[in-house]
Amino acid sequence: MTDLDQLKTDALTRIENAPDAAALEALRIEFLGKQGSISGLMKTLGGMSPEERQVQGPLLNGLRTETADAIAVRKEVLENAELEARLAGESIDLTLPAPEAPRGSVHPVSQVMDELAEIFADLGFSVATGPEVEDDWHNFTALNMAETHPARAMHDTFYFPQKHVDHTFDNAPNTRMLLRTHTSPVQIRSLVERGAPIRIIAPGRVYRSDSDATHTPMFHQVEGLVIDKGIHLGHLKWTLETFLKAFFERDDIVLRLRPSYFPFTEPSVEVDVGWEDVNGRKVLGGDGDAPGHGWMELLGSGMVNRRVIESAGLDPDEWQGFAWGLGVDRLAMLKYGMDDLRAFFDGDQRWLDHYGFSAFDQPTLSAGVGAKA
Ligand code: DAH
Repeated sequence: MTDLDQLKTDALTRIENAPDAAALEALRIEFLGKQGSISGLMKTLGGMSPEERQVQGPLLNGLRTETADAIAVRKEVLENAELEARLAGESIDLTLPAPEAPRGSVHPVSQVMDELAEIFADLGFSVATGPEVEDDWHNFTALNMAETHPARAMHDTFYFPQKHVDHTFDNAPNTRMLLRTHTSPVQIRSLVERGAPIRIIAPGRVYRSDSDATHTPMFHQVEGLVIDKGIHLGHLKWTLETFLKAFFERDDIVLRLRPSYFPFTEPSVEVDVGWEDVNGRKVLGGDGDAPGHGWMELLGSGMVNRRVIESAGLDPDEWQGFAWGLGVDRLAMLKYGMDDLRAFFDGDQRWLDHYGFSAFDQPTLSAGVGAKA
């Protein structure tokens, strides 16, 4: 074997065994760099005789080309291996469960309000709203509760300081501002704005200076109002019965109407609903007079007082109707089994996780208004 063959075998073997890109680059410099051994041999061609050069030229050129080719081949092998290694390190297992992502939930009060809107929309009602900061006229006077009316005392009203009110009007007491104590003022606002006939529900926040296990200073009501021609108490009973059956998803909801008094309705009725004891829990349904059953007061209602219809600028000889007011929080507690109203407004994450609903769990009449997340 000639020296040249020896050099070639040596170079190709070392190139093929170069462990990484840096080692390969060092070999390239060692053989083909400016001071490299093969480059050095190339330079000797200049000092050779033409005959000798004719023999050595192709040999040396061949050596240089083969070395360069071997380096290129090895380079590609090393690069591919490096890419494979990186891909292997970066792989993810798509069969693993998705990581826990924090997510919020829909409060039961919001959920119940959506359920109410869905059920009443099917009965031809639209949703109306009014301001929570209300004036005395809409909250009381227009609802047949004049300044001196004793029923005002039952409302534990939060009034705003009088100094913010303009006293130049004759009816100054009517412009006094307060936090609405019930959703009934929306009856007046809707009638004045839209006229009759009308079918609305008005869910929203109301405020009273009252606080214990079953009362919070802020709570939720839903008002209902129907004004049309020839409306009577039978329509009221059917509407509430149909609503409660849909809401509690039971056909055996039994109502009992008891004579009562509200300034804005005449006659007024309080509506009780039958319940039965199921494992120590009151579950709505069945005749409240049957053994193991009882009656629970659920809402106030009645035929809208003529004076309320007049307040809204309509002729009570032409238009009649019924109205009701119902506690939304109470309704949520009865349906979903919470027992302390105060927890509704504590914002405790554990309570919200337990009683909250998925945003995807939209109540629909077709899929059910009671599906629990
Ligand atoms: N506004 C009454 C309250 O908060 C509830 C009520 C009773 C509303 C009778 C009505 C009704 O519309 O007809 O106590």
